[in-house]
Amino acid sequence: MRFVVATPLSIKEGADIIRKGGLVAFPTETVYGLGADALNPEASARIFKAKNRPEFDPLIVHIAGLSSLEKLCLSVDERAKRLINKFWPGPLTLVLPKSEIVPDIVTAGLPTVAIRMPAHPIALELIKEAGVPIAAPSANPFGYISPTTAWHVREQLGERVDLILDDGRCTVGVESTIIKLAEGAILLRPGGVTIEEIEEVIGRVEIPSNNLTKLEAPGQLQRHYSPMTPLKILGDKSSKIQSKIPRGKRVGLLAFTPPKADPSRQAYAMVEVLTPSGDLKEAALNLFSCLYRLDKAGLDIIHVEPLLEVGLGMAIMDRLKRAAGNCKL
Ligand code: TXA
Ligand code: MG
Repeated sequence: MRFVVATPLSIKEGADIIRKGGLVAFPTETVYGLGADALNPEASARIFKAKNRPEFDPLIVHIAGLSSLEKLCLSVDERAKRLINKFWPGPLTLVLPKSEIVPDIVTAGLPTVAIRMPAHPIALELIKEAGVPIAAPSANPFGYISPTTAWHVREQLGERVDLILDDGRCTVGVESTIIKLAEGAILLRPGGVTIEEIEEVIGRVEIPSNNLTKLEAPGQLQRHYSPMTPLKILGDKSSKIQSKIPRGKRVGLLAFTPPKADPSRQAYAMVEVLTPSGDLKEAALNLFSCLYRLDKAGLDIIHVEPLLEVGLGMAIMDRLKRAAGNCKL
């Protein structure tokens, strides 16, 4: 494995590795991705192995230009076109009918393919240089916290990757929003583009409860994004936090905003604050890094203060509920 700062030269090296069937970790605006040639089934199979990812969990294919979209999809309807115009490049993934050139391993045998154009100059350059679309899940072991720095990738995947391109911290911090465009539009995963923004463009989007079949939303597991340390989401704010700290245990707190006059927080062994200024964008950006630090601190349990599920709060709470293993979406 080589760990290098992303430069025009190292991007060329990465593109070369991709073309030869290797694995390159690269930055996107959401999280770091673990990339391989999306049209090469053996290369894509290496992604599953490196992550320990079950093969029923399909990958997102990353593109740098709209001409690739036509090759990868059978059809792109009006709603998809409007979403693409508004949000690409950006943190929105569209699930569309796939064409023959997409290998079955990439889509887990489904007739659809998930596609996104990332808003990150290094990612776009890497895809262009490679000359092929790049299949990339988040660059973490399956089920663990997603990486928002190249160092997270190095610590978690190390020698399982051929090259890591470092370009500092991601700017969105939660994964892309996934929308499936079938008869209706269905939200498969809340993410960096809010549902409110999407509904402004295409009208009502269905937010499924937990009645989607495994085939419609593969990979959206109840337990995911999880630290090794048990995580518990606290009840409403008015309840007394201190009384919830088990005696003799080292408990950490993931807080939304900094403590005001809240002495109960002093009982915590460690407190991470998502957003000093109370801004949801900043909270999303800090989410995985804060969880990562709490997980490294040798705590017995991590408490989490819940936040309102509006705007980016929906994606943040989705990740936290899955990290706690009790997500209903
Ligand atoms: O922001 C992101 O989307 C990041 C960066 C690296 O681009 N990637 C990412 O990939 O989050 P990953 O593998 O963690 O999430 C891919 C998810 C799958 O778990 C599955 O739920 C959904 O996308 N997916 C992929 N193809 C699908 C399909 N054909 N139908 C339904 N869902 C699909
Ligand atoms: Mg992931």
